[in-house]
Amino acid sequence: MKKARIAIIGGDGIGPEVVDAALPVIEAAARTEGLTLDTERLPYSADHYLRTGETLPDEAFEHLRDDVDGILLGALGDPRVPGNEHARDILLGLRFRLDLYINFRPTRLFHPKLSPLRADRRTDGGSTAIDFVIFRENTEGQYLGKGRSESIGTPDEVHVSEEINTRKGVARIIEAAFAWAAAHGKTRVTMSDKSNAIQFQRIWGRLFQEIGDRYPDIQREHRYVDALALELVREPERFQVIVTTNLYGDILSDLGAGLIGGLGIAASANLHPGRPGLYEPVHGSAPPLVGKGVANPMATVLTGALMLEQLGCAAGAMKLERAVERVVASGPLTPDLGGSGTTREVARALLDALG
Ligand code: NAD
Ligand code: IPM
Ligand code: MN
Repeated sequence: MKKARIAIIGGDGIGPEVVDAALPVIEAAARTEGLTLDTERLPYSADHYLRTGETLPDEAFEHLRDDVDGILLGALGDPRVPGNEHARDILLGLRFRLDLYINFRPTRLFHPKLSPLRADRRTDGGSTAIDFVIFRENTEGQYLGKGRSESIGTPDEVHVSEEINTRKGVARIIEAAFAWAAAHGKTRVTMSDKSNAIQFQRIWGRLFQEIGDRYPDIQREHRYVDALALELVREPERFQVIVTTNLYGDILSDLGAGLIGGLGIAASANLHPGRPGLYEPVHGSAPPLVGKGVANPMATVLTGALMLEQLGCAAGAMKLERAVERVVASGPLTPDLGGSGTTREVARALLDALG
């Protein structure tokens, strides 16, 4: 039996609920494929921050950096911390400090009934399935918090938010997207930016051509992000791999989630090959759902699948995806997917569907 050391940060809101429900399912899938998850729980959350003033202490960061194979995170965000300081330190802090430059967000429709798009309006771009992956740059863009505020409280108040696009940062996410496309038999990569308005983004186009030249079998296409938002709604089936900036990737991945049933079923992985990954559903802490027992655990289960895949347990990952596919078809489903099931009932059904 192989072992993987996994740190669990339930976090805020529905985070702990979906993690508690999903973890036994993920562990069971791993175990049947010869992998034991050796888990430890870490308390970092809004509660912990409000009680102790601590967001993510350095020792905890070093422990996560040096001693674990993966981190599974529920969600962070709490109305009692309106400035979101703890999430910035924990979630963005881990992304930046572990240099997890790939935010990998698969967007696959598990069942036609989950699509909000009218089937008769959908064009068939050569394939009928919505199945694309977003490679979201994860360590720069507008997310570094660089900028300045001036003359606060006067009529001249101004806030400048800087967007960082480095050659190294842009090249490595584009390279990752092409490499993944090539390894997974994909034939097209779409790069999205807003370089018609933001001249400092032109490096994206340059590097896209330069790196794409090394992948002659993969077609390149460019879409401005506004046009891509439209096209993703009109013809989502034609996209395979999308590579984009941190901010546009954030927005497009919620749009993508909307195409496949919502945030309750959208998974993500923050990766740097060779390092421990940070695995978190795309959704947040969903304050209105807290304590109601109706949060969908599927996003966290599918996030677990991404984790198992990175841990070398592809068979376990596939089992989790199949289980979600089955339960989406058969129920029970939580209210976000049109059912009346609870978090626990769905998790139980997923466990039974592992087969
Ligand atoms: P959200 O993802 O929490 O909720 C958006 C909508 O999706 C809500 O209607 C919610 O009920 C629904 N939803 C989300 N997850 C669901 C699930 N598992 N099952 C069923 N429905 C689900 O986004 P928000 O409301 O914009 O943000 C709430 C808080 O979460 C904010 O503090 C935000 O900063 C934070 N946030 C954190 C993360 C993260 O930790 N990765 C991601 C996004 C937002
Ligand atoms: C996400 C979230 C985060 C982001 C927030 C909570 C900072 O929306 O993981 O998609 O913008 O990256
Ligand atoms: Mn987001």
